[in-house]
Amino acid sequence: AKITLSVIKADIGGFVGHSSVHPRLLERAKECMSKTELLEDYHVTHVGDDINLVMTHRHGTDYEPVHKLAWETFLSCTEVAKELKLYGAGQDLLSDAFSGNVKGMGPGVAEMEFEERKSEPVITFMADKTEPGAWNLPLYKIFADPFNTIGLVIDPKMHAGFRFEVHDLKENKRVFFDAPEELYDLLIFIGAPGRYCIKSIYSKTTGDIAAVSTTQKLNMLAGRYVGKDDPVCIVRCQSGLPAVGEALEPFANPHLVSGWMRGSHSGPLMPVSQKQSNPTRFDGPPRVIGLGFQIANGKLIGPQDFFADPSYDLAREKANKLANYLRSLGPFEPHRLHLDEMEYTTMPQVQEKLRDRFVSLEDDEAAVAKEE
Ligand code: F6R
Ligand code: MG
Ligand code: MG
Repeated sequence: AKITLSVIKADIGGFVGHSSVHPRLLERAKECMSKTELLEDYHVTHVGDDINLVMTHRHGTDYEPVHKLAWETFLSCTEVAKELKLYGAGQDLLSDAFSGNVKGMGPGVAEMEFEERKSEPVITFMADKTEPGAWNLPLYKIFADPFNTIGLVIDPKMHAGFRFEVHDLKENKRVFFDAPEELYDLLIFIGAPGRYCIKSIYSKTTGDIAAVSTTQKLNMLAGRYVGKDDPVCIVRCQSGLPAVGEALEPFANPHLVSGWMRGSHSGPLMPVSQKQSNPTRFDGPPRVIGLGFQIANGKLIGPQDFFADPSYDLAREKANKLANYLRSLGPFEPHRLHLDEMEYTTMPQVQEKLRDRFVSLEDDEAAVAKEE
């Protein structure tokens, strides 16, 4: 029988500010998860101020009762968050009533259904203080770059490459690219991660699903600032898919992502242990955790907290150095994001206030010409 792995996440209140999740919320979430017959297994965790529900079940993706369970869990946690007056209690629950699917309602969803293999290693990557496009670069490296993934070159089951599904978040469209044949076409899109996001990846050899990510943009849903859409990504590994170490490798070189303070800055994505996933400096830097599980007859065996390993110490050091440099730029681009990408802005108000003081340079020139 097929198994479905669903990761559903939401920020429903920060402790303290936007830095972490209070233990009582995690307890409440575990209580809610433990009461249902729907799931084969679950693991409740957090990265920064986001609660992540990792769930296995037999019902396929977009299954209403599973989405409803997640929604009600977040609602129940919100009660605790309100009682403790945690910061932004209930912030990602954009709607008052559940309507069949959590997509478009605030929480982030990454789900995949597959035949459980003889051995089924998966990694759930979860990030805070950044957006879904943050996965584009690592997913590209894992599934299309032979300098990262030697399996693409020397594993006969990977040599044909992978198929990428990319979403245009602005136009709400999807498109497929085959790698390596269409690498350059793929890159012109995913190199713009604020708009084009890798949604899923399939093996060209077996057709199996290999990766899936959250792609919703909360600010586009809500039409107002509700935080960057701290994303999740699931990667299946081994036997014709990238090795666990190939999937972890891109995070050894922290890349710059959008998010950080007020969702309006560029900063390095720092790989950290789950325990260290509490964005602190300037509400950051953006963090990613990688939790590995072996799925055994639907049960989640784990997690293995990969970025707790000392082999990621230098990546953290590099991220801190990059953070230091970027911070020295203060309110200037490219540390501060481009005007179109900032989650907060005072631009309209300031422009309005100073409107009369802006003089057209063309009018100046015309006046000079007249005098002559
Ligand atoms: C970024 C984030 C924080 C807040 C910042 C200001 O995603 O969550 O950096 O944007 O702490 O928060 P407010 O506007 O709630 O005071
Ligand atoms: Mg928050
Ligand atoms: Mg968050």
